[in-house]
Amino acid sequence: MSNKLRVLLTGGCGYIGSHTAVELMRAGHEVVIADSLVNSCASVLPRIEELGGEKPVFYNIDVCDPVKLDELFSNERIDAVIHFAGLKCVPESVSMPLLYYRNNLDSTMNLLERMRDHGVKYVVFSSSATVYGEQDVMPLKEDMPTGACTNPYGMTKHMSEVIIRDAAKADPTLGAVLLRYFNPIGADESGRIGEDPLGIPNNLLPYVAQFATGRREKLFVNGNDYPTRDGTCVRDFIHVTDLALAHVKALDYIVGKAGCEVFNIGTGNGYSVLEVIAAFSRACGKVLKFEFAPRRAGDIPTCYADPSKAERLLGWKAERGLEKMCEDTWRWQSNNPMGYEK
Ligand code: NAD
Ligand code: WQD
Repeated sequence: MSNKLRVLLTGGCGYIGSHTAVELMRAGHEVVIADSLVNSCASVLPRIEELGGEKPVFYNIDVCDPVKLDELFSNERIDAVIHFAGLKCVPESVSMPLLYYRNNLDSTMNLLERMRDHGVKYVVFSSSATVYGEQDVMPLKEDMPTGACTNPYGMTKHMSEVIIRDAAKADPTLGAVLLRYFNPIGADESGRIGEDPLGIPNNLLPYVAQFATGRREKLFVNGNDYPTRDGTCVRDFIHVTDLALAHVKALDYIVGKAGCEVFNIGTGNGYSVLEVIAAFSRACGKVLKFEFAPRRAGDIPTCYADPSKAERLLGWKAERGLEKMCEDTWRWQSNNPMGYEK
């Protein structure tokens, strides 16, 4: 492990941020969280403390607010930042593009400016496989073209990557890591923290998990005529704890270095929607009955990573398979059927 770091997590109350906070603490680092709670709730904080062993310092602020963020950097010693804060719902980004561009780009630029003002040199950014758009060739590699995104959310990730890369080019002392996440699912194996979307989940796993508890009435599989082994879409699902550990490795890698490096964070394996539902049925001990529905607009048939660059340079590799992802999701969902208390 590198030296003990004091790490600011923007969006640290969210799904991936909360798991990363716990893994950073388990690795001996200190955590400061800045979150507006626009898509999370403060009741995750005592659970982070329970699992990580320390109470994270918490600022309930909008990362787009230059004055509030400046105050945070003035009050706290910060060695590095992980920038999770952002809105992430693809269909919402189509209906409210300005909200997405404003929030996701202002937060990134404000953060980089305040880091510059306060001499903070290291940043890890939550990017997404969505920046690759639709590609003919799989697996996806970091040097493939990006930016032909099919929705405003994806464009905000691509544009943030460009902004961070240019900032690192202009400042020879800035060190940045762009992590392109594939499809994060699962939960800490304690079942104490997990994914808790507001309203009806858009994504497969939280929907399946809520269906398994009886909170959702029907389960639809969108499309069964894709050119895949069983006709349903194939994705590179990755356990959120493996993803969280990738952030710990990314900090180890970048602290003390300059420049901007990008990594795919996936397992390299694709699982179909039907394979996921079958694995979840085994995990929860009941057969989950689904119905086929038309394709969902904008879905690509297959998407999976080549994660070899992360293994080579970060020394990181996903360790947890689909069964474990479903078991841990089920432990979280069955112990917390309504998620966190709001
Ligand atoms: P999440 O919504 O659970 O967490 C994001 C957190 O950011 C929330 O707690 C929210 O309240 C906070 N936030 C949003 N805008 C803010 C602002 N302006 N100021 C302060 N806080 C703000 O989402 P997540 O799944 O944990 O995703 C974390 C990051 O990873 C996001 O940037 C997301 O786009 C990216 N990502 C997620 C996935 C995924 O499938 N979950 C995949 C690829 C990339
Ligand atoms: C997976 C498959 C659905 C729900 C999204 C974002 C992407 C990234 C990760 C942030 C698809 C099908 C779903 C359901 C279903 N996020 N499905 N029934 O679309 O690969 O990625 O989350 O960066 O940008 O687009 O993931 O979980 O939404 O869907 O059949 O009730 O499951 O149609 O084929 P996706 P997903």
